[in-house]
Amino acid sequence: MDYAKTHVRSWVYMVSIVIALDIYVFVGNSEVGTLRIIRLEEGFGFVASLYLLLALLPTPLYSVFPSTPGKALYTQARRAIGISTFCFAFLHASISFFGLLDGFAGIPFLDTRYLMLLGCGAIALIILFFLAATSFDIAVRLMGSWWKRLHQFVYLAGVLTFIHVTLLGSHFSDPSAFWPMLFITVAFAFLVLEAARLDKKYVAAREERAPRFSGVFVLCCVILTVVFMILTSGDSALHAGHAGHTSATTTSVTP
Ligand code: HEM
Repeated sequence: MDYAKTHVRSWVYMVSIVIALDIYVFVGNSEVGTLRIIRLEEGFGFVASLYLLLALLPTPLYSVFPSTPGKALYTQARRAIGISTFCFAFLHASISFFGLLDGFAGIPFLDTRYLMLLGCGAIALIILFFLAATSFDIAVRLMGSWWKRLHQFVYLAGVLTFIHVTLLGSHFSDPSAFWPMLFITVAFAFLVLEAARLDKKYVAAREERAPRFSGVFVLCCVILTVVFMILTSGDSALHAGHAGHTSATTTSVTP
């Protein structure tokens, strides 16, 4: 166990490097031109989102199901997962921004809605940068109680990423397709878990006979229902997709 705990972060970094090379070599090389750039940004974007979920998961998981095995190992691996999240998100953002949107020169061609959704991604990326930059023992020591406060911003990064992905990603122009459904179901499952954790922490602690699921749970359900209704409303103007980008370089390629 000690051996695993000592090396788990290195394993996470190794797995992340292998995944990045896989995406670059296999996904990237299966296409050419703009399609190649799109496949690369999609690949890195989805892996970044998955890693972000893995970084968020241990707190609600072990709070609601304390006897779930692997707590020490997962907790130890968490910082490496967070740093890898930033690296994947950075690759995705750089390829999207410079490869698909023509960098700063392409900004005037984007409509307000598209810019706002890009802004959500950009803020999430900045948060992930600060979290990754402070994911070292020396930062934990120097920052004291501020470290935990800063790292709670990971939840904001999660919400902004969810908005960015579901309202901007070309895969989400048909929300009833497999991948959007899976993405939204996983997000919903995570919210239920997180609501149960907050419920346990704030409500049940104060009042013994408090309901099992509090207002947090109801709020989560309302938020997800609204998102789902927006996505399934059938009004293409509500979904930015590639439509907001009027530059000639982008093409919708939802498989
Ligand atoms: C400056 C920061 C960012 C920029 C410029 C950016 C850019 C983009 C663009 C242009 C798209 C639309 C591509 C398409 O139509 O499929 C997109 C989608 C997406 N982004 Fe980002 N992004 C940023 C941050 C992030 C972050 C932080 C994450 C995750 C942690 C992320 C994950 C995704 C995912 C999963 C998609 C959906 C891809 C698809 O549906 O095919 N992005 N992003």
